[in-house]
Amino acid sequence: MSRRHALGVAGALSLTATFAKFSFAAETAKLKIGIIGAGRMGGAVGTALAKAGHPVMWSSRNPEELKDLVKAAGANAQAGTVEQAAAFGDVVLTVVPYSAMPAIAKQVGPVLARKPLLLDISNPIPQRDGDEATKAMEEGPAEYLARLMPGVKIVRGFNAIGFTRFPNPVLANGQKLGVAMVGEDKVAIDLATGLAREIGFEPVIIGPLKLGKYLYRPSTYFNGNQSADDIRAIAKSVGQ
Ligand SMILES: NC(=O)c1ccc[n+]([C@@H]2O[C@H](COP(=O)([O-])OP(=O)(O)OC[C@H]3O[C@@H](n4cnc5c(N)ncnc54)[C@H](OP(=O)(O)O)[C@@H]3O)[C@@H](O)[C@H]2O)c1
Repeated sequence: MSRRHALGVAGALSLTATFAKFSFAAETAKLKIGIIGAGRMGGAVGTALAKAGHPVMWSSRNPEELKDLVKAAGANAQAGTVEQAAAFGDVVLTVVPYSAMPAIAKQVGPVLARKPLLLDISNPIPQRDGDEATKAMEEGPAEYLARLMPGVKIVRGFNAIGFTRFPNPVLANGQKLGVAMVGEDKVAIDLATGLAREIGFEPVIIGPLKLGKYLYRPSTYFNGNQSADDIRAIAKSVGQ
């Protein structure tokens, strides 16, 4: 067994052990990942997870347009509708403009609330996403999502990392790229940080969901080119 494969299996077993606390315990060694959004960022994250051995389903409002992405990601990847991706995932990622959140909440909010993790990689950017992003920034993105989708177990993460970093998340000095995350639910945090480690990042939980408003791109604090130690040092100033 190669070292990479052994690490992948170990990561999967540890995730499965966490997940097995649920009555809907995963039987397979690898969690299934539903990804709502298959653009530059959703495509990059999903490809990394598929290449790490996770069955991945991306959503699109036009899933037939994702053929090239699915083919490039290999046998673990497929495409579907928003409803299909939400139902498919043991855990679900949202990687969309914030203007899409009200529609997604209507379509699949109750489904997402039954999952142990909703990893929100999306950023509220008012210039791009209009009023919904302004509301989300004022309220806090995680609080905004939790209001739209009551009961979701949110972790925010990867929000400051550029999509081009996924194939090789290493700094020029050879250190792993750090990824700042916020969350409160322990199982959701364990799942999100476990997935991040599996695809080569070093996650740092910087605090509770209210600090999620500091995770976006571009951010004064997190520039997507920082080690875990850099993130820990900067996190001390967040929220002050
Ligand atoms: N690009 C980056 O490097 C980067 C880094 C960190 C975070 N982010 C954040 O990640 C999110 C996505 O960014 P991106 O660069 O990947 O954008 P993108 O390339 O424009 O892709 C946007 C995705 O959102 C989906 N979408 C849009 N409206 C939707 C709706 N109403 N319902 C369902 N899906 C919808 C689109 O799916 P359809 O096929 O249905 O159109 C598409 O897959 C943004 O919030 C961004 O700020 C991006």
